[in-house]
Amino acid sequence: MNRIGEALTLTLFGASHDSRIGCIIDGIPPGFPVNEDLITADLALRKPSEGIGTQRVETDIPEISGVVNGTTTGSPVVITFSNSNTRSSDYEQLRRVPRPGHADYPAVCKYGSAHDIRGGGMFSGRMTTPLVAAGALLRDLIGSAGISVGSYVTRIGSVIDTNTYDPADVLTRSRINPLRAMSSDIESRMRTEILTAKSEGDSVGGIVRCFAAGLPAGLGEPFFDTLDGEISKAVFAIPGVKAIGFGEGFAAAGLRGSGNNDAYRFQGDSVVTLTNHAGGVLGGMASGGVLDFSVAFKPTPSIAKQQMSVDLVIRENVDLSVKGRHDPCIANRGAIVVEAMTVFTLADLALRGGFLV
Ligand SMILES: Cc1cc2nc3c(=O)[nH]c(=O)nc-3n(C[C@H](O)[C@H](O)[C@H](O)COP(=O)(O)O)c2cc1C
Repeated sequence: MNRIGEALTLTLFGASHDSRIGCIIDGIPPGFPVNEDLITADLALRKPSEGIGTQRVETDIPEISGVVNGTTTGSPVVITFSNSNTRSSDYEQLRRVPRPGHADYPAVCKYGSAHDIRGGGMFSGRMTTPLVAAGALLRDLIGSAGISVGSYVTRIGSVIDTNTYDPADVLTRSRINPLRAMSSDIESRMRTEILTAKSEGDSVGGIVRCFAAGLPAGLGEPFFDTLDGEISKAVFAIPGVKAIGFGEGFAAAGLRGSGNNDAYRFQGDSVVTLTNHAGGVLGGMASGGVLDFSVAFKPTPSIAKQQMSVDLVIRENVDLSVKGRHDPCIANRGAIVVEAMTVFTLADLALRGGFLV
C-alpha cells in the first residue's frame, strides 16, 4: 500500500513522469507552524550533485495545502511537486527488456501492460522528493519534544569513514557537503570512487549512519510496533535500501554479553549508559540513549555497462546497456531520505505514545 503510519499517516502518490507527485500527511495537530525554509534546505540535500548525479534536475518548489498563515489547520497537509524534466522515451524498451537489479521485471509481472515504466514509475528515486518534504515539515514537530535527527555517509564503495563522531556534530556538520561526508578529505575520496565507477559505466553502493537524539525512554509500541521495527519498515520503503542495523547490528552476533551490554550509571538524577552498543533501543523502546542505526544502499541498478537480460516479447536472451540519466551512487542522496522517514516514524510514535500533545 502507499500509506504508512497510524496516529500520523503519510500517503504517497504519483510516479516519476506523471505531471505531479506528492504526499498527504494526516494527523498533524492544528496550529503547528510550518517552516518552508526547512523544507527547501532538506530538498537541496536530496538533489543530485554536479558531476556525480543524474542530469535530471527539477526545480522542486513544493505546493502546500492545509496550511493557512504559516500554520496547520488540522486538515490533511498535501505537498505536491510538478515533474517537467522528463524523457520518457528512454524507458519504453525496458518494458520488454527489464533492467537487472531494478523493479522492471516484477512490476511487469504484477501490473502487466498497465505498469508505468516511464522513469521507473512509482519505483523511481524521484518518489522520495515528497518524503523529504514531509520529513522536513515534521522536524519542528518532533523538535517540540526535544528530538532531532541527522545522518552522514560512512561508506561509498571501498571508501570507509572509520572515525567516531559526536552525534551533535553530525547534526550540523554533515549538511555542509553534497556527499554528506564528515570531512572534505573523505568527501573527495568518495567523489573519486563514484567518478571512477561512472567512467567505467558502473555504479557504487554506500552506507548511511543516522542518529536521533532526545528520544524519551519508552518511545515505541511493543509488541509489534516497536521503535526499531517501525523505523525499519519506513526506511525499507526507500528504493535501493538493502539492510539496516541498530547499534552493533550484525556485529553483535560476534560479541559476548559483557562486551555488548551497555552498563548503567546515575548522572545526577538521570540514568545514563556508558556505551551505546544497543543503538538506543531495547525491547523495541527507546532506551534513553541516542538512536543510532546504519542503512546500506545497493549500487544503482541502471548502468551503462553491458549486462545480460531477456526480451520478454521474443522470449530470447539479449544484452542490455541502460541509457538515460542515472545516479552512479544513491547513498549520498538517500541520506536525507533516511532522515525524513526517521522523523516521520518518530513523530508517529511520539503521538501514539502521548509524548506530543
Ligand atoms: C534518491 C534516489 C535516487 C535513485 N536514482 C536511481 C537512478 O538514477 N537509477 C536507478 O536505476 N535507480 C535509482 N534509484 C534506486 C531505484 O529506484 C531502486 O533500486 C529500484 O526501485 C529497485 O528497488 P530496490 O533497489 O529497493 O529493490 C534511486 C533511489 C533513490 C533513493
